Amino acid sequence: MARVTARTSDIEKAAGVLRAGGLVALPTETVYGLGANAEDPAAVARIFQVKGRPPSHPLIVHIGGGEYLDDWVKDVPATARLLAEHFWPGPLTLVLRRGRRVPLEATGGLETVAVRVPAHPVALALLAAFGGGVTAPSANRFGQVSPTTTNDVRAELGDAVDFVLDGGPCTVGVESTIVDVTGDAPSILRPGGVTREELEAVLGRPLAVPSTTRVRVPGQHPSHYAPRARVVLVEPEKVVAEAERAQDLGHRVGVFLPPSMAGAPVKAHAVVSVPPSMGDYARRLYGFLRELDQRGCDLIVASLPVEEGLGLAIANRLRLAAGPRATV
Ligand code: TXA
Ligand code: MG
Repeated sequence: MARVTARTSDIEKAAGVLRAGGLVALPTETVYGLGANAEDPAAVARIFQVKGRPPSHPLIVHIGGGEYLDDWVKDVPATARLLAEHFWPGPLTLVLRRGRRVPLEATGGLETVAVRVPAHPVALALLAAFGGGVTAPSANRFGQVSPTTTNDVRAELGDAVDFVLDGGPCTVGVESTIVDVTGDAPSILRPGGVTREELEAVLGRPLAVPSTTRVRVPGQHPSHYAPRARVVLVEPEKVVAEAERAQDLGHRVGVFLPPSMAGAPVKAHAVVSVPPSMGDYARRLYGFLRELDQRGCDLIVASLPVEEGLGLAIANRLRLAAGPRATV
């Protein structure tokens, strides 16, 4: 777990802002969230406004512990309880049937609701002090890279957020895994911090994973988690050649140098070395994308990791970052 950096007075202040209908940026183990009182439709509406997110895109309700699950959802299947017991607090979000406490504003009009218990001491302290549920999408503008530090949050949202609660840098670095447990068989809607292999070991059966192109949940729309620079994906052994070709054509190229090419000389505007450990890579992925934007790159050349463990979530985010951009 991340070290606790927030003071008790900050937790109290943040809880007060939530009670007053304000917005609080809060740390979680995955990414920073933009939180509001889940039961306050006006505060929830402000989240959509600040993010520039279409109101039909549902939010995750963060709760302080698995013991509160039945307050927020109805008809919890045994599979959901099993997963909650194993992975909460943690980077797992369960999609369940909406309970009456959750306003339709938070679910984008859906009769299902996404719920999770974050594994971050500051988030848990805030949830305990506040006493209710906190709806929180990632604290970035719609379609952009999720923030993993308070500096990122301020760069994304500036004064639009009423209070920023500091919990240090996020330790997981990619968003939670979303599992839909409303149907006959559970399915992964978004790969994330809990791996498919970990889920399958607990469930004792294989899980379906969406193809990145299938638009099932809003986070799966093409071009999401995207830096300003265009992202191009090639095979690992072609990264250097492709980067140099684009640089020669006049682009300011940022390179994600894969571990298999570590130390290779590359003629480009900026280079980041991809860590060999998937945990380290996940933790630093969004920081790398932000860094290359800040260094003025207009094109990022990267390759996909092996899609096992956290590599599945990393590859999913890179594919979405490389997806077609909206033309409006
Ligand atoms: O790690 C995380 O999950 C972070 C931290 C802040 O908790 N939150 C996050 O929220 O990534 P957001 O809003 O950026 O992504 C939430 C995803 C969206 O893709 C949304 O469509 C999906 O959850 N979602 C929410 N409610 C849903 C529902 N009822 N059915 C299907 N998908 C749902
Ligand atoms: Mg997001």
